Amino acid sequence: MTHTPALSLTAAADLNHSPLDITAVLDHLVCEADAATATSIGFPGAVDLDQTEIMARLGGRLWNNIGDPGDPGGVAHTRALERAVIAWVADILAMPTDDRWGYVTTGGTEGNLSALHAAHRRYPTARIYYSTAAHYSIPKSVEILGARGVVISARPDGEMDYAHLAAQVRKRRRWPAIVVATAGTTLTEAVDDSTRIRAVLDEYGVAGHLHIDAALSGIPLALDGQLRFDDAASIAISGHKFLGTPTPCGVVLIRDSARRHGSHVAYTDTVDTTITGSRCGLAAALLWHAIATHGREGHRWRASEARTLAAYAVYQLTAAGWPAWRHPHAFTVVLPTPPEPVRKKWLLATDGDTSHIICMPGITRGQIDAFVADVAAAAPPRWIPQPRLSPETDVSTAGH
Ligand SMILES: Cc1ncc(COP(=O)(O)O)c(C=O)c1O
Repeated sequence: MTHTPALSLTAAADLNHSPLDITAVLDHLVCEADAATATSIGFPGAVDLDQTEIMARLGGRLWNNIGDPGDPGGVAHTRALERAVIAWVADILAMPTDDRWGYVTTGGTEGNLSALHAAHRRYPTARIYYSTAAHYSIPKSVEILGARGVVISARPDGEMDYAHLAAQVRKRRRWPAIVVATAGTTLTEAVDDSTRIRAVLDEYGVAGHLHIDAALSGIPLALDGQLRFDDAASIAISGHKFLGTPTPCGVVLIRDSARRHGSHVAYTDTVDTTITGSRCGLAAALLWHAIATHGREGHRWRASEARTLAAYAVYQLTAAGWPAWRHPHAFTVVLPTPPEPVRKKWLLATDGDTSHIICMPGITRGQIDAFVADVAAAAPPRWIPQPRLSPETDVSTAGH
């Protein structure tokens, strides 16, 4: 296989380059991705599900689920599979069967935007509350919608500070509230407590819409009964994270009663309810395939194995003098940021003094051992991570 040297990919891919060696460019991409696989433990994509067969069978055609997934009109493509995916995800979240709607999105970001769009149409004057640990797609959605955002403090372990939320809601109680709870914050995988958020709104008699951004943890927590739709009006989940699809995608679920129904578009013969018009039918098929080949029990087992590995990583890092911690439900292991060469080699997600690795399904003990060996060989950390802040925060070796 030809391997173009790393720095020349941009030049090799330049479409004005003559002669253009297409094979060399593709080889290069694959080699680079293969080389990075062993040390990719910083970002949350599962790598244990084999989707090569379905990619080979469906990957050469256009599957475009234009319009509403429930629509019988227009081009159907993989809409039947999309509906099955939506029903499965809604079922594991115990979303009411008579008040549900959703579609397969391009990812968690579109899910958040779609849900907040529905919420904002419902409550145009609402303030949108989200914590400092919320994903950047939330303030971006607030800006796109031209809404007013209110930033709430997060505790050092990543969970929302409910006392701060209460103080901010109290000050603005004449307006409705749209509150974003995160189920699996990007850095620490903390889960905001919807019941406590709802209690704050009830205390001040504020009407509102509770949205859950569950991009990473929605499916694994729901499978264990640790996350339910309950008081929520909408929820967004990424598909390429826990379900490891080879293309970015996601699912958004919104209560049917919490959204405005779209208008019919004559030329596509569908109802316009989604953020994008053309929508990736291959993504819906990949999600369906990932769910169908493993079922609830298979996916529950995958989550449990990943958590066991995360507990192992906490134990090994701590034993090596690099104190780490995790929330008990989490795949994410938080640690003091290692020196630059270790950080770069292992593609760690870093926020100043704090970094994380994510033990997604498919990451192995061998990878964790190699990472811990590199960390142990580095100078000791300059800081000790947060003490236990909530009874659930696991800073010990429990679960290992
Ligand atoms: C909490 C949270 N929300 C939303 C997103 C965005 O999801 P996506 O990358 O699928 O758009 C992420 C991605 O990391 C996330 O961690």
